[in-house]
Amino acid sequence: MGKNLADYDFFDPEVIESPYEFYQLLRSQAPVYQLPGTNIFMLSRWEDIRRAAKDTATFSNDFIHLLKGPEPCAEAADIYAGGIEPVDTLLTMDPPRHKTYRSLINKVFSAGRVEKMRPYMERIVDELIDSFIDRGECEFVHDFATPLPVYVIGDQLGVPRSDLRKIKAWSDAFASRLGGMASPEEEVENARLIVEYQRYMAEVVEDRRASPRDDMISDLVNIEIEEGRQMSLQEAISMIEQLLVAGNETTTSALTGGLLSLIQLSDQLQTLLEDPGMIDNAVEEILRLETPSAGLWRVVTRDTEIQGVAIPKDSLLMLRYASGNRDERVFSDPENMDVCRHNADDNIAFGYGTHFCPGAMLARKEMQVAYAGLLRRLTNIQLAPGKNDLTHWPNVVLRGLKELHITFDRKA
Ligand code: HEM
Repeated sequence: MGKNLADYDFFDPEVIESPYEFYQLLRSQAPVYQLPGTNIFMLSRWEDIRRAAKDTATFSNDFIHLLKGPEPCAEAADIYAGGIEPVDTLLTMDPPRHKTYRSLINKVFSAGRVEKMRPYMERIVDELIDSFIDRGECEFVHDFATPLPVYVIGDQLGVPRSDLRKIKAWSDAFASRLGGMASPEEEVENARLIVEYQRYMAEVVEDRRASPRDDMISDLVNIEIEEGRQMSLQEAISMIEQLLVAGNETTTSALTGGLLSLIQLSDQLQTLLEDPGMIDNAVEEILRLETPSAGLWRVVTRDTEIQGVAIPKDSLLMLRYASGNRDERVFSDPENMDVCRHNADDNIAFGYGTHFCPGAMLARKEMQVAYAGLLRRLTNIQLAPGKNDLTHWPNVVLRGLKELHITFDRKA
């Protein structure tokens, strides 16, 4: 007998690992579902999610105070006190204030700048493949999917390669603090890394104000954010933090999950090998199926209802992008990968509306260049026998494989 909704606990690690039957039940039986015993309502259908994402007056992004988790322990609080006081910007802001920061970031992430980055991304992809191709095997997350976005954003932010390991450590520390599950020792380590980031970036920001270069930080800190005003140091540090945290894990996860699917579905891989022109569409299909930002929060600002379900003020709404991307009302045969799917780019992996991901063009380009490089240089890509358990990080917001061990041959 099939399972009922009541059999699923959304926070159960097993459900987080394999959520797709649960999502299917939600979409068919309870598209606006109150998680039992909580004030959390989950939206699972594509259309409802898009409508809610546009209604920023009712569904607010001002959720940072709810997600900060417990107060840090005394030792960590002392370390934070010696850093730079954080301020709210962008992701956790609503219109009209959100627009001030968003216009700035849109200028910095212009289509022209991203398009110009293709040859440079191709060089990074080739360097990474060079670093493991002779071994005939690699751990794809560590050797490729993590460094690629870190190198790209690090270069854009003007952080020298010798400091790139720090970028990864900093973005992990931010993610861990946001997760609210850190032990006291980890809290102290997070605090140390976050204050290190603040001091490091403060120097970079001052440097780019004094001598601007052709990089994103220079644009961010020198363009006027409002008439007659550039961003303060605190605002700049908060914006750069969001670029680090939002872009790294997500792109890594999309790259890794996509490669696993291509390995498992040899007909899909074959289509791309025969027609590399399909890679851009395949990237959309991978984003649809992987949806690394599986769900995002909204705070309900007034009593409202969706599909006849009453949602009281102060409830939390979870926009389950990962479920919307498998909505059978929009995508035919949604659980299966089809790299030629005609409407793959209707996916909502980058969100929708006001907070639509400003890094979408950059992430797409990285993925397109990455798969093109991998398929051009490697053949016979397989899962390394006995090394993979193919599990994901336990996280209700982000979804990503922990590891992917592969073997391959070099293309002649
Ligand atoms: C595959 C990779 C990526 C995915 C799946 C992804 C997903 C998302 C999603 C779903 C949102 C909307 C959040 C919401 O609804 O509240 C978002 C926002 C955001 N993303 Fe991305 N993202 C990716 C890559 C990047 C990259 C590469 C960057 C920058 C380097 C970036 C920077 C941001 C920022 C700053 C926001 C906040 C925008 C705002 O509030 O206006 N993301 N992203």
